[in-house]
Amino acid sequence: MENFQKTFILSNSYKIPGIGFGTMELSDIESIIEDALKAGYRHIDTAAIYKNEVEIGNVLRNTDIPRNELFITSKLWNTERGYKRAINAFESTLKNLQTDYLDLYLIHWPASKSQFSNWDEINRETWRALIDLYKIGKIRAIGVSNFLPHHLKSLLSSEIAPMVNQIEYHPGTTQDETVRFCRENNILIEAWSPLGTGKVLKDKRLEEISVKYNKSVAQITLRWCIQNNVLPLPKSSSLKRMAENLDVFDFVITKEDMNEIDLMKHFDNSGLHPDSVTI
Ligand code: A2P
Repeated sequence: MENFQKTFILSNSYKIPGIGFGTMELSDIESIIEDALKAGYRHIDTAAIYKNEVEIGNVLRNTDIPRNELFITSKLWNTERGYKRAINAFESTLKNLQTDYLDLYLIHWPASKSQFSNWDEINRETWRALIDLYKIGKIRAIGVSNFLPHHLKSLLSSEIAPMVNQIEYHPGTTQDETVRFCRENNILIEAWSPLGTGKVLKDKRLEEISVKYNKSVAQITLRWCIQNNVLPLPKSSSLKRMAENLDVFDFVITKEDMNEIDLMKHFDNSGLHPDSVTI
């Protein structure tokens, strides 16, 4: 049986564990992160705006797992765009996480057209800061989040192109144009809310498919992401479900079932659009 890689390789050859643990809006975060490490996660995804970097840093400082076996991502919040602010925000994130480097740092949202006439220039200036931090070795890989092709275009002509784009991605929200563009430009797609914040889990058709593989709907959905070369970042507050969500490497979804899930259109999404969000 084909066994898909548990690791993706970024365009700069840096390895990234194939499933990450999402941490937005989780309460009791220290014990959740301890459980996530216990369940086997080595890839933790946070962001300055989640306001949990200090708690995650406390767990990382106390774990026996060596730092080089962990993959830590954080994101620059929207109020910190521009070269100097981005450098300072990154330093605060590093201090909060109590580490001396990040594996991956992302611009959380593009400066949007609806807010700024010079949105492209703002994005390029912010990106320049990430490039400089990357070049001095404080970040192992750099990327963006929620960027559409028109936001990415000018960054691609800079000295270093984004290696990752983290977007909303789950059945019903597959952002095909962005995914295609990123693939063509060797940018790995990461999926936030890969389970549609839980909305996809009660779907009858996904349930039928999951029974065939003797897996849960969550496992089918995560496996579907991975087979589409998309790295999922599921969240869970339960140790049992955290472990279940990692157990997706011993089966393969057929082409027919992949196609069917690709075409499912009936799930809600967050409704957040990168060109109009004002957060
Ligand atoms: P819980 O924390 O009770 O496990 P997403 O990652 O798309 O944002 O989805 C997160 C939601 O999915 C949470 O409500 C989480 O609930 C639920 N969830 C995560 N993993 C599973 C699973 N394996 N089975 C059922 N629900 C899950």
